[in-house]
Amino acid sequence: MIGPSALHRMKHLLKLLDLTGEDIIGLLNQADQLKYETKHGIKHHHLAGKTLGMIFTKASTRTRVSFEVGMQQLGGHPLFLSGSELQLGRGEPIEDTAKVLSRYLDGIMIRTFKQEDVEDLAKYGSIPIINGLTDLYHPCQVLADLMTIREHQTRLEGLKLCFIGDGNNMANSLTVGGLKTGMSVSLACPEGYHPHQSVLNFAKDYDCFTLTGDMFEAAKDADVVVTDVWASMGQEEEAEQRRKAFAGYQVSQNLLGAAKSDAMVLHCLPAHRGEEIAADVMDAHPEIFDEAENRLHAQKAVLLTLLK
Ligand code: CP
Ligand code: NVA
Repeated sequence: MIGPSALHRMKHLLKLLDLTGEDIIGLLNQADQLKYETKHGIKHHHLAGKTLGMIFTKASTRTRVSFEVGMQQLGGHPLFLSGSELQLGRGEPIEDTAKVLSRYLDGIMIRTFKQEDVEDLAKYGSIPIINGLTDLYHPCQVLADLMTIREHQTRLEGLKLCFIGDGNNMANSLTVGGLKTGMSVSLACPEGYHPHQSVLNFAKDYDCFTLTGDMFEAAKDADVVVTDVWASMGQEEEAEQRRKAFAGYQVSQNLLGAAKSDAMVLHCLPAHRGEEIAADVMDAHPEIFDEAENRLHAQKAVLLTLLK
């Protein structure tokens, strides 16, 4: 079994493209162990005395709470920093912010718009930086997704993962995480809403990657069907235009008829029932809430790996 030893070289979690498949599996193994310890009341205060700064310039329920509770369960201290209340929100450069915060904190988790800002925090600071979602990627969520798939299906290798909808941060990270861990990945995205070019460049070397506009083709024989909102945070003004572009791109019972009969359904949440996912599909797939729970355990594995 690949353990945390494979992870020693990891300094940040900026995007899954920076990790090997072995790194990802190592994090999942650690997350499984931490989940077991949590469920059995085994204390793991490995980060006693450490402080994590958590910068949010976008809303969050799961990411904020899982990092905050996770840090506490590891014996450390989480510090919530609202982007609008930091001087960053009044134009203080990322470079200066990174240098200053590195002198107080042991690590930073940041949720923001531009991937470049997260990469710059890592470039100019001297402490581990964790990407808690940008417009481009959502690596922490995808670690929880892979953990949940492995929990339910006992493996990742050889499974078919299908994503329906916007080629957004979730589609980008799922494509990279799925392919790196041996899954086949099929995306169904409308024209004009394809994943980022850097992800397509990465995926083109994999025979088991497909991108189509046909949802039923993408979902055919899938073991896991995933979707996400049509309009992400920051795209509120495009909501109407997107509703038209994505009309029909819904994970429904009808679509699931094309997938394997025991296919899992995942959604990072928050979900818009009746848009990207039918309400009866949400009700029939409680693994979506295992996925949400696993944010906690996956986050703790990332914190332990980077901050210990
Ligand atoms: N899935 C996810 O990242 O949820 P939040 O936006 O609530 O953090
Ligand atoms: N794609 C969504 C994910 C939310 C967790 C967004 O960026 O808003």
